[in-house]
Amino acid sequence: MISLRRSSPSSLYVGRVCLRQPFRFFCSTFFSSVDNVGDKPILVRDFIHSALYDRNHGYFAKRSGSVGVLDKSIKFNQLQGRSAYLQYLDNLYKQNDISWFTPVELFKPWYAYGIAEAILRTANFSVPLKIYEVGGGSGTCAKCIMDYMMLNAPDRVYKNMTYVSVEISSSLAKKQKETVGEVGSHLSRFRVECRDALDRSGWGNVDPQPCWVIMLEVLDNLPHDLIYSPNQISPWMEVWLKKQGDRPQISELYKPLRDPLIERCIKIMDMDRDQITWGDRIVSSTRHILSKLVPKSRRAWTPTGCMQLLEVLHWALPKMSLIASDFSFLPDVKIPGENAPLVSTKKNGRTVDLDSYLDAKGDADIFFPTDFSLLKRIDHHCSGWLKEHTDSPSMPVKKIRTITLDTAAFMEEFGLPLKTRTKDGYNPLLDDFKNTKFYLSVPTHNTK
Ligand SMILES: C[S@@+](CC[C@H](N)C(=O)[O-])C[C@H]1O[C@@H](n2cnc3c(N)ncnc32)[C@H](O)[C@@H]1O
Repeated sequence: MISLRRSSPSSLYVGRVCLRQPFRFFCSTFFSSVDNVGDKPILVRDFIHSALYDRNHGYFAKRSGSVGVLDKSIKFNQLQGRSAYLQYLDNLYKQNDISWFTPVELFKPWYAYGIAEAILRTANFSVPLKIYEVGGGSGTCAKCIMDYMMLNAPDRVYKNMTYVSVEISSSLAKKQKETVGEVGSHLSRFRVECRDALDRSGWGNVDPQPCWVIMLEVLDNLPHDLIYSPNQISPWMEVWLKKQGDRPQISELYKPLRDPLIERCIKIMDMDRDQITWGDRIVSSTRHILSKLVPKSRRAWTPTGCMQLLEVLHWALPKMSLIASDFSFLPDVKIPGENAPLVSTKKNGRTVDLDSYLDAKGDADIFFPTDFSLLKRIDHHCSGWLKEHTDSPSMPVKKIRTITLDTAAFMEEFGLPLKTRTKDGYNPLLDDFKNTKFYLSVPTHNTK
């Protein structure tokens, strides 16, 4: 039997497809999350960064198996329907020691071909095509996009293209080189840089040329911060973590907002408040009364890692076009707070969602839903052309155009959906991935 993780009761919401596997018991070599938090308090985003990306013990650092790889493409048109597909996945799991499959892997090469086609239709080929991929996992997206360009683009496009992968995990960086190297001619056009994409210094100088940035299921794994308010109306406070004396437990500490990244993020999250309606005013007064009668604490997770990455990318690659896909919604989340993550590990071959993010010990994936409308606001803000940055009303308000599409809509527009259809018409790419979306952002030419 297989268990599809992140499925709603109606099985409509499927994210990374996670298969049961024997639990690999790493605890003797894992750091305790406590070692991650010393005597000095740290922000929640630093705790998450370490739990996922610590060089020695982080979830992604050592285990190339944290991203599942299929030996060969699935022949969907030879499968009868949904149950045959699920059975096929179950067998795959039995043969492989993997944690989960992402869509680019499950639907290879078709998923990446859709992305390549979107680039081909939009790119300006007066300059050589340059693609950056952040968090390329096993390298499947890179290889398939280069295959597509080799087979479908004008000769000069493939001949002159470069593909730069920025990958934080050394084991995955190595895997990417192997995957792309399956086609010898790709290697001279491909480079993997093993580094943290959030770190501005790693990007060197500004690259002023037009380019593409691809990020598939990366935003969900970026560090977030937690903010807290003791009731419905008090201002937000930032959450820090500290050890309790000599005891192993970690506790949360609430401090007034001071961290500039959190403050910038909250400002963007609050932007809509400028356009307060009468309805909002009524809600606000009701909150005021409720906070006196029944004070209820609030917690919200803020995408500070996403904000940091977009700030860095807009600075380093000012003419970038962006394609990102991620979860718009995650079902059955146990962690409290708005926009809270799933924290998933394996126990005895079963996927178990943890109740506390503080229990993530390097064997647990921590992933968040993406609020795509907030992503768009952050992107506009980081591109530097929001209203607040312009003095004159005649100045262009923004220099990017964006669109958010359901995965099915994106694949119907740019992909080859017939290739992922089973005999009875069931199409897992279109029918199951209802909780994932694509975000595209391209620079406009009206910047002065
Ligand atoms: C969930 S996996 C997705 C892999 C691949 N994009 C896919 O869809 O199969 C997240 C990937 O992002 C990488 N990653 C996460 N944070 C990163 C960062 N700050 N800089 C570079 N790579 C990062 C991880 O190591 C991993 O390869």
